[in-house]
Amino acid sequence: FFDTALRPIITAAAASDRIKATSQRLTVTRRVVERFVPGETQDDVSAAIRRSLGNGLSVTIDHLGEDTTDEAQATQTVDAYLSLLEEMSRMPSPDPKALEVSVKLSALGQMLPRHGRKIAEENVHIICTAAETAGVLVTIDAEDHATVDERLDILRTVRRDFPSLGTVLQAYLRRTEDDCREFAESDVRIRLCKGAYAEPPTVAFTDRAQVDEAYLRCLRILMKGNGYPMVASHDPMMIGAAHELVAEFGRTPDSWEHQMLYGIRTDEQLRLAGDGHRVRVYIPYGREWYGYFVRRLAERPANVAFFLRALADR
Ligand code: FDA
Repeated sequence: FFDTALRPIITAAAASDRIKATSQRLTVTRRVVERFVPGETQDDVSAAIRRSLGNGLSVTIDHLGEDTTDEAQATQTVDAYLSLLEEMSRMPSPDPKALEVSVKLSALGQMLPRHGRKIAEENVHIICTAAETAGVLVTIDAEDHATVDERLDILRTVRRDFPSLGTVLQAYLRRTEDDCREFAESDVRIRLCKGAYAEPPTVAFTDRAQVDEAYLRCLRILMKGNGYPMVASHDPMMIGAAHELVAEFGRTPDSWEHQMLYGIRTDEQLRLAGDGHRVRVYIPYGREWYGYFVRRLAERPANVAFFLRALADR
């Protein structure tokens, strides 16, 4: 209860321009951010990718950004992905599915007035075209609940040309069980996470136990289905449930995977990979780290305490 009650408070405080500007200026913030984001440049993320691949992990890379307010900014995001994909195409990797990028529709222009949807969809198409050439998979991240219908529509459309395109479903949304049922029937790659945004109780479960139960129901539907479930959770209960469901439905190691965030439960990532599971680490990079960082604080208030202690020690 404590955790879920704090999430909207942390998220609301973080929305203040003053708090954002002050925290971005502080060196200590950057030190704490480094735990979750390997750096701001393509060189920083390339080094992190190579380290992860060297440790037997797969990767998905997110170029940070979500407040795109003009088309030029969306184009810059696309260019950053194209440059990254070019570099990724030259990275030797023993597993053909080891490389992936994650994209946010808001960063690709979805919120722009008038043609936002069309611009975002075209940008996803451009990224998928380059990714296919580079031998890299693409997954569309999930943002706030108001954008789900449009995102799933874009997924259905772009998958006609790029069937390997996947997306994220958030178990805390009341609608997600139905979405899982729809996608479990096709062969789509679905990343199931609990959900990281502050959502109202009308659309989302806000009680931690209810979110966990919803996650388990959704995971069962996906594991039983024909798709490729991506179990995006650090929670030992969800990890254990995934293994039980894999055994129950006779899934092969190549038909699903674990996913975790960069800097969170790294030992567990390596342990699972050492046991022969495909484990993908989500690595964000770039200058627009603030929104991502705040969601990491909000999902675990202990991180706020860690941040405040670092401030006090300054
Ligand atoms: P839970 O929050 O119960 O955490 C379980 C344990 O993991 C904790 O006890 C702690 O040990 C560790 N842990 C979790 N979060 C931590 C943190 N911030 N700092 C330190 N330790 C932490 N969400 C979303 O809304 N849209 C999206 O597109 C994505 N994409 C995404 C991709 C991938 C690969 C992952 C792993 C997660 C996401 N998420 C996301 C975030 C997700 O919704 C969720 O907020 C976090 O994964 C935390 O939930 P857990 O399932 O890990 O459980």
